Amino acid sequence: MNYEDRITAADLSGHEEELAEVSLRPKRLSDYIGQKKVTENLKVFIEAAKYRKESLDHVLFYGPPGLGKTTLAGIIAEELNVELRITSGPAIERAGDLAAILTNLNEGDVLFIDEIHRLNRSVEEVLYSAMEDYALDIIIGKGPSARSIRLDLSKFTLIGATTRAGSLSAPLRDRFGVICKFEMYETDELSEIIRRSAGILNVEVDEASLLEMARRSRGTPRVANRLLKRVRDFSQVKGSGTIDIDITQRTLDSLGIDRLGLEHLDREILRLIIERFKGGPVGIDTIAAAIGEERVTIEDVYEPYLIQAGLLHRTQKGRMVSEAAYHHLGIAHTQGEQISL
Ligand code: ADE
Repeated sequence: MNYEDRITAADLSGHEEELAEVSLRPKRLSDYIGQKKVTENLKVFIEAAKYRKESLDHVLFYGPPGLGKTTLAGIIAEELNVELRITSGPAIERAGDLAAILTNLNEGDVLFIDEIHRLNRSVEEVLYSAMEDYALDIIIGKGPSARSIRLDLSKFTLIGATTRAGSLSAPLRDRFGVICKFEMYETDELSEIIRRSAGILNVEVDEASLLEMARRSRGTPRVANRLLKRVRDFSQVKGSGTIDIDITQRTLDSLGIDRLGLEHLDREILRLIIERFKGGPVGIDTIAAAIGEERVTIEDVYEPYLIQAGLLHRTQKGRMVSEAAYHHLGIAHTQGEQISL
């Protein structure tokens, strides 16, 4: 199965999905659940910027996909009472594309660039002066007659989002005044998110089902909301219309989502390391080739949760599964180098 089709894939480029999810998105900071450290700080910075009638300093969000980075960017724009413009690193192919976006921003507007680590070099260089001096340096003409003109921009706020802060060049990273790390959500936070979404979708869910969906959402609100929608489908077609633990279990089982929220491919990765590499260590490129997925997809989409759940470790020599992974897959663990937790 392609990872885009997975129900639990909080994929890197799920913009269509994001659009469909819009109605479930909180609009104000007070409705945003979790990421307390991030939101408490941002609340202060937003208030301070509004008090001084200045634009908010540039903000960098980083962390695994599906944790609400775009949602929070929308909330920041809403709280600042300005327009939000959304784009992504790969969508801005040339410096001219970025110039067109920047010259169309009004004073104080928020520009959200998703996957900002994928901006190409020439575009990134244009961004430096835009972020620092709110100006664009444009070269006109060619050869000896070429000259550079400086175009002033409105003071805007750039919100960059990335799954990998380490892939950002130092000059770009240094130009962000606020850097926020997104953490995976706790089960009780996910329960609250599902409760809120169920309210918006107007579907009744009992407490046991909330907890079960939350536990199997891999710490990710995007996954939680998707599970809720699928369970709602099952309850409307095969159940009573309200969501109880029975229909929740049935849905999750039909989707192949196990007790820990793992899907087929997650289990394949663990099984591969155990059966072909004696539990590891094994290099990420070897895993990617054997599974038939891109290395970055494994690193950014699958691994974060496997690591968080204590099933996989990144070591100097490569990936290793834990004792818990054997246990979870029901494979007897005899000997080998694997580490116990
Ligand atoms: N939907 C997605 N992320 C959310 C969050 N953090 N709080 C509330 N609803 C959400």
